[in-house]
Amino acid sequence: MARTVWDSTVGKKTVMAVSGLIMLLYLVAHMLGNLKIYFGALEFNEYAHWLRTMGEPLLHYEWALWVVRVVLVVAVVAHAVSAYQLSRRDIKARPSKYVHKKARASYATRTMRWGGIILALFIVWHILDLTTGHVHSGGFEEGKPYQNVVDTFSTWYGNVIYIVAVLAVGLHIRHGFWSAAQTLGVGSRTRDRALKGLANVLALLLTIGFLAVPVGVMTGVVS
Ligand code: HEM
Repeated sequence: MARTVWDSTVGKKTVMAVSGLIMLLYLVAHMLGNLKIYFGALEFNEYAHWLRTMGEPLLHYEWALWVVRVVLVVAVVAHAVSAYQLSRRDIKARPSKYVHKKARASYATRTMRWGGIILALFIVWHILDLTTGHVHSGGFEEGKPYQNVVDTFSTWYGNVIYIVAVLAVGLHIRHGFWSAAQTLGVGSRTRDRALKGLANVLALLLTIGFLAVPVGVMTGVVS
């Protein structure tokens, strides 16, 4: 049964939609959490500490965080694998005698594909920068994310990498949310306009919220 669903195009699109929505929920929470940087180092670092003690004393230190990490990794892999397989299927299904030798994907498809690749590379960089510190610009200090974030946005390349990634997130969500709504059958003619509007508002709020952090450091409001 699960195999039949996974093999179908609708099944793969459903996997993309559900995994995408899980990641979207994470991004909304992450964006809101990041904004705490405007309330000072103490509050921001305490919040980062709470991410690790969530669920205590029932759960041990970092257990809840690891559950979130595992769910996210599963979502990222499921999303990427189904996207890849859907694009292979799309190319194979094309009647090549009517089109140019090289099948040209639509503008939206190409944007989503490149956006996805940029985001995957960014996530690796981002974890090495602010979670493990391997590529961090300043002296990375575990448990002191406030200072780590300020260090990152005190370099020109840190700002460029994050701003490009955040714009890619916005574009990806704008189209992805709309596609997910259609796959999951929420859309109808009357609701289409409202859903498109919702996708735009959501993408815009996330973009502005994430950009607020580098902008805060660059303007000296966060230092
Ligand atoms: C300006 C934008 C962003 C800032 C300032 C920021 C900040 C941070 C910080 C400080 C951490 C480390 C938290 C800690 O260890 O306590 C972190 C982790 C993380 N961020 Fe971001 N982030 C931003 C954008 C993003 C975006 C756009 C994504 C996804 C596309 C993302 C995904 C993640 C992930 C997956 C982690 C690892 C969580 C973990 O396993 O510990 N972040 N971020």
